[in-house]
Amino acid sequence: MPPKFLAEALSSIKQAEHPDLLVGFNKADDAGVYRISPDSALVQSVDFFPPIVDDPYQFGQITAANSVSDIYAMGGKPLTALNIVCFPLDKFPPETLTQIIDGAQSKLKEADVTVVGGHSIKDKEIKFGLSITGLVNPDKMLTNSGAKAGDKLFLTKPLGTGIITTAIKQNKADEALTKLVIETMSSLNKTACELMLKHNAHSATDITGFGLLGHTYEMAAGSEVTIRIFSDKVPLLPQAKELASEGILTGGAAANREYLEGKISIPDNLDPNLEHVLFDPQTSGGLLVSVPAGSAEHFSNALKQAGLCHEIIGEVVASEDSAVVIL
Ligand code: CO
Repeated sequence: MPPKFLAEALSSIKQAEHPDLLVGFNKADDAGVYRISPDSALVQSVDFFPPIVDDPYQFGQITAANSVSDIYAMGGKPLTALNIVCFPLDKFPPETLTQIIDGAQSKLKEADVTVVGGHSIKDKEIKFGLSITGLVNPDKMLTNSGAKAGDKLFLTKPLGTGIITTAIKQNKADEALTKLVIETMSSLNKTACELMLKHNAHSATDITGFGLLGHTYEMAAGSEVTIRIFSDKVPLLPQAKELASEGILTGGAAANREYLEGKISIPDNLDPNLEHVLFDPQTSGGLLVSVPAGSAEHFSNALKQAGLCHEIIGEVVASEDSAVVIL
């Protein structure tokens, strides 16, 4: 039997050791970090995927926002980008590719990131992504394993992009909802990053393919703590629960559920549709940020002022039987 998850297939790969390697791939963090001087380190990530929306320009925007997000999640400043392009010239006109790259370019400009090159191949289906390089001060960088008992937890964007983009493909999302989800996915985590640094966050990660619960589990396990999620405080995109109740779900959510089986505690009376959204894989999701309790109120106010989600969605406690407990 082949392994079910790529993570299993890759599990035998050993992380090379180097005194300047500060964050490698063995901790499931958002980006790799390599020190180049005492107060400066490279922070690098790569991500690419097939189109999740029909409009090529918007697809480019979303992909770029998603790619730079991994740098923001580490508290870094993204600087340069390399485009990764897989494109079927027999199925789409070259303008489609130009629009994808123009869309990405518009978001990179907003992030003050410069494209320095890229690589393209002909392929059977479109795939596009970017490799981003940034800088971070190693003393100020944030990993997904720094959460401390007593911290409060925030999520800066609402959940439900997997369910809603699936609904769009099935013509079950109206125009307003389609517009909103595209806006959400293409918005940068830049301000959220600046604010979490300013408010002394202990730990951060961005919510992507593993959904809120998968990424929360990684933060809890990596930090050797238990994270309690206040399920009624988690910000959701409108109609996400309703669409889930109609059976609009993704294969990714099913895989997340299977992967987390036995690792998290879910109350029997949790609304099953809310549960679907908590497992929903996100594209270009928000930052999950763990801040000291004393900073929580100021951080919340600053997020609110910036127009970001600002409720406390959970808390960090000393390690219990389950790494993640949903309340
Ligand atoms: Co990430």
